Amino acid sequence: MARTAKLTFEDRSIDLPVVEGTEGELGLDIGKLRSSTGLITLDPGYGNTGSCTSEITFIDGEKGILRYRGIPIEQLAKHSTFVEVAWLLIFGKLPNRAELDDFRERLVRNASLHEAFKHHFEGFLVDAPPMAILSAMVNTIACFPRHGEQDESPEERFIEDAAQLISKVRTIAAHSYRRSMGLPFIYPDPKLPYVANFLHMMFSMPYDTHHASPEVVDALNLILLLHADHEQNCSASTVRTVGSSLANINASCAAAIAALWGPLHGGANMAVLEMLEAIHKGGVSAADAIKMAKEGTDGFRLMGFGHRVYKNFDPRARILKAAADKVLGQLGVKDPLLDVARQLEEMALEDPYFVERKLYPNVDFYSGIIMRAIGIPTNMFTVLFAIGRMPGWIAQWKEQRDDPKSRIARPRQIYIGANENDYVPIDQRP
Ligand code: CMC
Repeated sequence: MARTAKLTFEDRSIDLPVVEGTEGELGLDIGKLRSSTGLITLDPGYGNTGSCTSEITFIDGEKGILRYRGIPIEQLAKHSTFVEVAWLLIFGKLPNRAELDDFRERLVRNASLHEAFKHHFEGFLVDAPPMAILSAMVNTIACFPRHGEQDESPEERFIEDAAQLISKVRTIAAHSYRRSMGLPFIYPDPKLPYVANFLHMMFSMPYDTHHASPEVVDALNLILLLHADHEQNCSASTVRTVGSSLANINASCAAAIAALWGPLHGGANMAVLEMLEAIHKGGVSAADAIKMAKEGTDGFRLMGFGHRVYKNFDPRARILKAAADKVLGQLGVKDPLLDVARQLEEMALEDPYFVERKLYPNVDFYSGIIMRAIGIPTNMFTVLFAIGRMPGWIAQWKEQRDDPKSRIARPRQIYIGANENDYVPIDQRP
C-alpha cells in the first residue's frame, strides 16, 4: 500500500504521498500542499528539498558513499577513464566497445573551434578570469551551428551536442590559458586521446610538442572522473533550472559554469591552494587558520572542508589523498603544501568544532595539490573542475528535459517587505 504522511494545520489536514527511492530514501510529495492547506514550504538553500527524482548519481552522505549509475566511485576510479564515465553518466550504462569508439570519434571530430572564436578570445584582457571566458565561450558554441545540424534526428543532435560540449570545453580551457600567457593557440591533435590532447593544447609550443607522461595523464583522468557528477549540487541545479525554461544545452551549461565559479562550490579548489600557500609562507599558522575558521573571522572558512551532503569523509577526498601521495612520488615532486594539508587535516579532525559539525575534507582539499604537481596553474583549477563536471551537467540537463513531469523551475517565497503604501512625489519625500 502506498505510504502517506498526515499534515495538519489549523482545521485543515492533508495526506502527503511518501516517495521512496531505490536505495530507500524517503521524500514527501508536497505538490498538493498549497491547494489543500494554503501553506508553502520554506527551505533556504534547499537543504531539505528534493527538486527532482534522478537515476544518475547516488550519494549517502552519512556513510560516505558515491555511485555513478549504481557503480561505486572507487571501482570507476580504479578501472575506468573520464571518457567512459562521461558515456556512463549521459547514457545510463557502461558503453560497449563500438559505442565507446564511436563516442571517441565524435570527441575528435568536435575538438576544434570555429576560427572566428579567435576574435572572441582576443576581445578579453589577458588577465580575464578563465571561468568568465569559459562560460561566455560555451554559450557562444551554439551560435555556430554544425554543418547539416538542421537535418540531424533529435537523438543524433543530442549526442553530437554532448560530444561537442565535452570536447570543446577542453579546447576553450586550453586556449583561455594560452591567451592569459600571451602564447599562440595550439590546435587539437586528432591522434591524441582526450586528456593527453588537453595537455598538448595547454603546454606544447609551435616547434616543441609537449608529451605528457602516462602518470600525469592518469592523474588528470582520475581528477576529471571524480568530478564528473555529484547529483543536485549548486551547478547541477542551475543546469536544470535554466534548462527547465527550454533554454538550449549550451546556455544551460554556461550558466552552470558561472555557478561553479564561486568559492563555496568549485572555486574552493583555488581557495584551498591559496590558503595552504599562505600557511606555508608563514602569513598564518595552521593553528591560526583553524582558529579563524572556528571564530568565522571576516567570514573565513577552512576551504576544502565541509559539505552539505557528506557528514563523513567525502569518498572523492579519500581517493585523492592517496593519489596525491602516489602522483607526487611518481613524479619525484616534493611539495611542502602536501605536508601543510596533512597537518591541517589532522588538526581539524581532532578539533571538537569540526568533529561536532561533521566537517571532513571534501574533493577540493587534495585535488589542487595534484594539479599543481602536474603543472596546472592555480587559476585553471576551477576550469579543470568544469571540464570534469561537463558530462554530469549534460546528463542532468537531458534527464530533466526528458522527464514528462518536469515543469519550469519557479519557486515561491514568503514576502516580508513593506505593506501597501502610496507613491510619494519626489519633492514631498523626506
Ligand atoms: N570551515 C569552518 N566552519 C564551517 C565550514 C568550514 N569549511 N563549513 C561549515 N562550517 C560550519 C558553519 O559555520 C556552520 O556552523 P554553525 O552551525 O556554528 O553555524 C556549520 O559548519 C554548518 O555549515 P553550513 O554553512 O550550514 O553548511 P552548508 O551545507 O550550508 O555549506 C559548504 C556547505 C561546502 C558550502 C561549507 O561547508 C563551506 O563553506 N566549506 C568551505 C568551502 C568548500 O570547501 N566548498 C567546496 C564544497 S565540495 C565541492 C563542491 O561540490 O562544490
